[in-house]
Amino acid sequence: MTQPVAAFAGLGVSNPERILTNADFERMLDTSDSWIRERTGIRERHVAGPEQTTAMLARDASLAALAEAGMGPDDIDTIILATATPDRLLPSTACDLQALLGARNANAFDIGAACSGWIYGLVVGESMIAAGAAERLLVLGAEKLSAVVDYTDRSTAVLFGDGAGAVVLIRSDGARGILSSYLKSDGTLAELLWRPGGGTVHPPSEEMLKDHSYFIKMAGREVFKNAVRSMADAAARALERAGLVADEVDLLVPHQANIRIIEATAAHARIPMDRVYVNVDRYGNTSSASIPIALDEARRCGQLKPGMTVLLVTFGAGFTWGSLVLRW
Ligand code: UT7
Repeated sequence: MTQPVAAFAGLGVSNPERILTNADFERMLDTSDSWIRERTGIRERHVAGPEQTTAMLARDASLAALAEAGMGPDDIDTIILATATPDRLLPSTACDLQALLGARNANAFDIGAACSGWIYGLVVGESMIAAGAAERLLVLGAEKLSAVVDYTDRSTAVLFGDGAGAVVLIRSDGARGILSSYLKSDGTLAELLWRPGGGTVHPPSEEMLKDHSYFIKMAGREVFKNAVRSMADAAARALERAGLVADEVDLLVPHQANIRIIEATAAHARIPMDRVYVNVDRYGNTSSASIPIALDEARRCGQLKPGMTVLLVTFGAGFTWGSLVLRW
């Protein structure tokens, strides 16, 4: 059995109070509650207020994680923030978070791996601990997707929600923590899920505002097929690296994008649905924040208990995907 290098000392989340239900979308778009529930499993999603930024959501999640770890912002030496929705193009949202927290002893940087970003961040953090470059890290997934969703496009508008999740990552005592991981990307498929406008290729312009190219665009069916294939493969690879088989997984916590993707991934991985945590119905797809939000809920409702073997698996724009096995 692999010896873990890094473990969680605290976990915290932040979910905005405002909720958008399927009935709200029925009033805004040519859609229906039954279509959304049948095709995605989503009933409602949390949406940030106009003044609430990605860094603010990240701050609230960080403070909850720090409190559980019995630490203060000054104890943190590294902040890794995964986001697809940075507050500004420059500087990083991690630096904004550092300022909000007053984490004066930290280095801070963002990770751009879309929905997979939190898993990527954990692997980077674990590697920094292994290399002796960090000891006490905050690793976050934080998103304000409502700022980049096109609320006139029914094929994407109903899918996404806002939120943040944070863990304090420390050196493992050898019993609990990250047992294995697997990361993979395929940049040739970028245009299946992207925001074409607003960067250096198509800088902000009046045209961009008219053609909505600033917003998220997705070829849903293609993304769906790739997500199932890639998440199934990633699940198998992290288990193999940990020297484990599916029967030894106590809980699968997948990225929460679509109930049908989750069910197909679980079936491929041969993990029955009673060992899969699902909360996509109440949050929608919160991108990099979805897995930490699900982990936090799973432990609060008693489905995730100390000592359990947990498999995390994710997929997102890039494409990026990955997996991680934890001893909780
Ligand atoms: O985090 C990773 C990134 N995202 C994902 O993992 C999402 C991956 N994709 C999906 O979850 C699904 O592909 C969607 C939920 C986005 C779409 O479901 P689908 O079963 O693949 O539907 P579709 O895109 O093939 O569209 C089927 C029909 C179309 O109508 P026509 O052309 O057959 O007349 C759409 O226009 O459903 C229509 N449609 C809708 N109808 C009512 C698309 N969105 C809606 C909607 N309400 N909101």
